[in-house]
Amino acid sequence: MEDLSGGISVLNAIAVMTSGGDSPGMNAAARAVVRTALYEGVKVFGIQNGYKGMLNDEIIELQRRSVSDLIQRGGTFLGTARCKEFKTEEGRRKGLDNLQKHGIEGLVIIGGDGSLTGGSLLSKMGGIPIVGLPGTIDNDVWGTDYTIGCDTAANTAVEAINKLRDTASAHKRIMVVEVMGHTSGWLAMVSGIASGAEYIIVPEVKYNIDEMCEEIVESYKKGRRYTIIVVAEGACSGVGLKNVVQEKTGIDTRVSILGHIQRGGSPTVEDRMKASQLGERAALAIISGVSNVVFGFDEGKVVSINLFDSVNNKKPLDPELVRLASVLV
Ligand code: F6P
Repeated sequence: MEDLSGGISVLNAIAVMTSGGDSPGMNAAARAVVRTALYEGVKVFGIQNGYKGMLNDEIIELQRRSVSDLIQRGGTFLGTARCKEFKTEEGRRKGLDNLQKHGIEGLVIIGGDGSLTGGSLLSKMGGIPIVGLPGTIDNDVWGTDYTIGCDTAANTAVEAINKLRDTASAHKRIMVVEVMGHTSGWLAMVSGIASGAEYIIVPEVKYNIDEMCEEIVESYKKGRRYTIIVVAEGACSGVGLKNVVQEKTGIDTRVSILGHIQRGGSPTVEDRMKASQLGERAALAIISGVSNVVFGFDEGKVVSINLFDSVNNKKPLDPELVRLASVLV
């Protein structure tokens, strides 16, 4: 991997922010950015509440202690938001002015593809180097195998599905479980495989509901007591699917929408470690003047990805996951 740190600080002050949907491990990443920058003798500011806070000048200087007692916490101590105003050039100009007012010379943005797109637009206006870190439970950022929070979210979904199987089995029911992921099927696919679901429905793969329902009816005739259908929110609505399945099979069917519970909770060891590694890399890069990169993972190693490539491409669902599901599920 290319050494992006160079070991020399060319910037005197940087800022870190979280944006878009929060994800477990964002705190660990921000903590690593703050501590690395301070270790290198560089001032660090925190932008609160995402791009909204940048526009409203919610910017505070951070110390080592500002990020104590944080690595184990879900959510984001900086706060986050979705901000329409930042989509306009005028909004971005206002944000840039606020950064410059505080003497901020570089910005680390932790967020999903929408937030990184915001960063790319800010970068195009010039005036400030940008480094991105992929922070989203959806694991849908192009160029990286991993996004901060995806492991915790998958574990949360698997834990919920384990519990849902108990009650489905007790009642001989079908349980439809709707999992988040925006337009990506990654979270549904991984949590479905890892929980041993009977069916996994994701936007990237065609499925035949009629065939699935016929199979389920046959399996119940042979004594099956439960069926778990994991459906990605990007494929179809859990409620709609539940109604169709209930009608076509005549078997008692329930739906459970896991929703925002998947976004919370204490990050797993994997999320804490990877977020810490990414945070350190981002801080070293930005303080040495690097711009327009996103740090992510490729086959277990930290890699840098061009920011514009990352936001202009859609990440496909790993075909290896699809293949594995076709064998095991
Ligand atoms: O991008 C993360 C995510 O949790 C998606 O999985 C989901 O579609 C969306 O955010 C929900 O957003 P909000 O919290 O704004 O309802």
